[in-house]
Amino acid sequence: MKKFRKMIGIACMMAMLVCLTACGSSGRSQETDGKPDTPETTASQQEETDESLDTGAAEPVGEQDAPAAEPADTEESGEGNSKVLVAYFSATGTTKTLAEYAADAMGADLYEIVPEEPYTDDDLNYSDRNTRATVEQNDKNVRPAISGSVENMEQYEIVFLAFPIWWGEEPRIMDTFVEAYDFSGKTIVPFCTSGSSGIGSSGKTMQSLSTGDATWLDGERFSSSASREDMVDWINGLGLDVEAK
Ligand SMILES: Cc1cc2nc3c(=O)[nH]c(=O)nc-3n(C[C@H](O)[C@H](O)[C@H](O)COP(=O)(O)O)c2cc1C
Repeated sequence: MKKFRKMIGIACMMAMLVCLTACGSSGRSQETDGKPDTPETTASQQEETDESLDTGAAEPVGEQDAPAAEPADTEESGEGNSKVLVAYFSATGTTKTLAEYAADAMGADLYEIVPEEPYTDDDLNYSDRNTRATVEQNDKNVRPAISGSVENMEQYEIVFLAFPIWWGEEPRIMDTFVEAYDFSGKTIVPFCTSGSSGIGSSGKTMQSLSTGDATWLDGERFSSSASREDMVDWINGLGLDVEAK
């Protein structure tokens, strides 16, 4: 009887071993599928996401941290163009749309300048002279902090700088941006969106604040109704060594 119990015990242990081996291998195949749904894998995925955000930089929306410059989707547009960067700040999305058109048309990298402290609707209310954006514009020395940075600025030969006009000028956060990099040897192309104001002296101001011997083009102002085609025509008329399609 003792011998019989021992045999049953061994049989049970072997059955458990077979079961454990099967479960283990099915867990691994889920991971390699890239569609993990176990709590364990979800946590490691989260770590990956956190790490990529830590490296700083681009296609962030709203209040997320800024991730790094991302290649534009080039399927129906310009070839991947690693020498051109479109860097933009946009508080309400108008400039973002045009920056995306431009980057897509050239196959350029796209980088969003994301404020460390996001602008709220109240901050942007220009009917009230005491709100944040207006107070900032009234002081040329204010430099709102940017979340993240362009990782490889040195790789770009042409940098488009896109921004909205605030009180006739570039938002102060654009000054923060241009002061953060050495633009030596690059061609800088400013463009803005606005309700009606022109680009004014925004380009000249940013040029005077920036470091490096760069070639600054005059830049252009677009309305919120500008189309992708408008951007393509403008870019192709600049005489740069890049084609927009
Ligand atoms: C604080 C503030 C000041 C502005 N000043 C002007 C201005 O002086 N002239 C103008 O035409 N539009 C002005 N605008 C309107 C913006 O330039 C316009 O809506 C722009 O397209 C917004 O771009 P965005 O959606 O990318 O932020 C101002 C907007 C804000 C929030």
